[in-house]
Amino acid sequence: MKKRLATAAALTLAAGALCAQPRHGYLVVDEKAPGIEIQPTMYGIFLEDINFAADGGLYAEKVINRSFEYDNPLQGWKTFGKVEVLCEGGPFERNPHYVRLAYQGHPANLCGLENSGWFGIGLEKGEKYRLSFWARTAGKAVSAGIGVMLCDVNGNFENQILAMDQIEVKGGKWSRYEVTLEPSKTLQKGSLRILLMDEDPAAAADLEHISLFPAETFRGDDNGLRKDLAQALLDLHPGILRFPGGCIVEGTTLDNRYQWKNTVGPVENRPINLNRWSCSAFERMFPDYYQSGGLGFYEYFRLAEEIGAEPVPIVNCGMACQFQNDPAWDVNCSMEDLNAYIQDALDLIEFANGSPKSKWGKVRAQMGHSEPFNMKYIGIGNEQWGEDFKARFEPFVEALRKKHPEIKIIGTSGPYLGGEWFDDLWKEMRRLDVDLVDEHYYSWEGFYERNADRYDSYPRTGPKVFAGEYACHGSDGKKFNHFNAALLEASFMTGLERNADVVHMSSYAPTLAHAEGWQWRPDLIWFDNLRVAKSCSWYVQSLFASNRGSRVIPITAAGKPVVNSNGLNATASIDDATGDIIIKIANLNQYSQTVSFELPGGLCGAQKTTLHSDNAVDENTLDEPERVVPQTSAVDLTPVSDPSNDYLMGVRNLPGGRIELRENFPARTFAVYRFHTK
Ligand code: AHR
Repeated sequence: MKKRLATAAALTLAAGALCAQPRHGYLVVDEKAPGIEIQPTMYGIFLEDINFAADGGLYAEKVINRSFEYDNPLQGWKTFGKVEVLCEGGPFERNPHYVRLAYQGHPANLCGLENSGWFGIGLEKGEKYRLSFWARTAGKAVSAGIGVMLCDVNGNFENQILAMDQIEVKGGKWSRYEVTLEPSKTLQKGSLRILLMDEDPAAAADLEHISLFPAETFRGDDNGLRKDLAQALLDLHPGILRFPGGCIVEGTTLDNRYQWKNTVGPVENRPINLNRWSCSAFERMFPDYYQSGGLGFYEYFRLAEEIGAEPVPIVNCGMACQFQNDPAWDVNCSMEDLNAYIQDALDLIEFANGSPKSKWGKVRAQMGHSEPFNMKYIGIGNEQWGEDFKARFEPFVEALRKKHPEIKIIGTSGPYLGGEWFDDLWKEMRRLDVDLVDEHYYSWEGFYERNADRYDSYPRTGPKVFAGEYACHGSDGKKFNHFNAALLEASFMTGLERNADVVHMSSYAPTLAHAEGWQWRPDLIWFDNLRVAKSCSWYVQSLFASNRGSRVIPITAAGKPVVNSNGLNATASIDDATGDIIIKIANLNQYSQTVSFELPGGLCGAQKTTLHSDNAVDENTLDEPERVVPQTSAVDLTPVSDPSNDYLMGVRNLPGGRIELRENFPARTFAVYRFHTK
């Protein structure tokens, strides 16, 4: 009996030992290889006004329908007393509507209006807000007192007023008025109230373009951006900024396509546009979703400059969104009208790069940027396909090549990651020899898990790839921005970098989403009126971009690239400026495994940054924004005491002056290693 027990114990021990046996990935880094250049444009961002990303989000304006131009001119406004909407004699011809406030008989009869912004007006104690409007007197009185206040109308009503001031409107000519308000408390959903407050019952005033901005915007720009959101973009270290879409470039019909010329010049005179995402999803309609044009092309170019990204504007190719329209509806521009669209593209280059003496260069200079924006790329069309597109695309290419051979042209491979349209378009893009082709792939986990080698077999000549929109979607349709998706994106992205000779640009999509106003998910950054949450995918993007390196160098397992090798996907690069060797590696296995890196000796320090969660569906939320964040630690490069002990992790010296760094690499983890050679 004793003997039988002893045998069983021995067997159990042996089985245990077998289970504990580390799996061993031995990865060799060849730092002497010349390497493939990684373009500075490799990792970027894509901004589109979807999910209230611009109006109601990044654009710091807090007043919705500030010019009374929505189809319902008082949309977003609550009115008290006698408020009329007028449109004759306003100060801005392209935004003709304004309101008139006048008493009915007695000053005690309140007259005014109130705006609650997009999902409320977020206010922070300690911050200042610039309230401005254009106004003139409208009654017999020579002046009209206007009370302006920031309010908490949803709280307990002990004191609704968080800040207040009075503006004296004088004279019958339109003038701009501005005051600074400082709220007495922080509030997610405040409002702006404006009342006629004059003792003279004859007082009346006309008001137009009522605007409320935080006094501090990103980089202090007038007509600027929300600091916290723009900072989250900057912290992605983007190489490019693709804008303004996406489907909003195309429009539901050509009438509401994005027209960049409507988004430049004085902000008060930019016409609004119904956002194509207002009614795209039946279950998540926002019929009051308009684009103010306040975050327009000037602001996009300026943002690109401020965050160090190459501007990549996309223009309409003469076609409305093909997804939203039946081919029989014939919503595209005629071939005769195509020239106007091509001219828009040519004028855009003049706006961005032309001399301040040129027509459009002058517009830019008058807006405050006499130096060119140095635009190098232009995208023609978004997710287009088929013969109608090809017929319109070629004349664009011809005209751009002729007048601006210095500008790189980005074509498209359509909405899908493969298939008939995709192949047809790639063939056409090659025939026309465009510089880059924009590929989009929103796909499920299996795609990202299995396709780190997507670009290994792409032709090495011809147009380069711009992975312009991609994101891993949870396969059950319920998981969004969870850790597992981010891990799989990281794993896939090692393949983008390993193929840096083919892939020159990439950007996750979409970038921004208001938690109360989204139409599409997953998204890189979630926000509400006061808070920001960076998704797990944000951290992946940021880790790739801030550890890009200048050249890809080989990292191999048994002489082959590390692609699905024991569940590992990896890429290595050298940063020429610092001499650092950088390894990015994802372990998709459910178990930890021993991984060895063979590296040059003489390293003078190293760090690793890991992104991991034990729970695949963990995500960062506005309430818990730091649930999954990267952890950085130093890597000990001291040689191990007993190199013959196979189970000992750490550094071993190898013949020829090289070293092996043996690591216990955790399950389901993405890591970036930085080894300092100098
Ligand atoms: O990013 C959201 C949308 O996805 C983009 O507008 C479009 O290009 C794609 O279909």
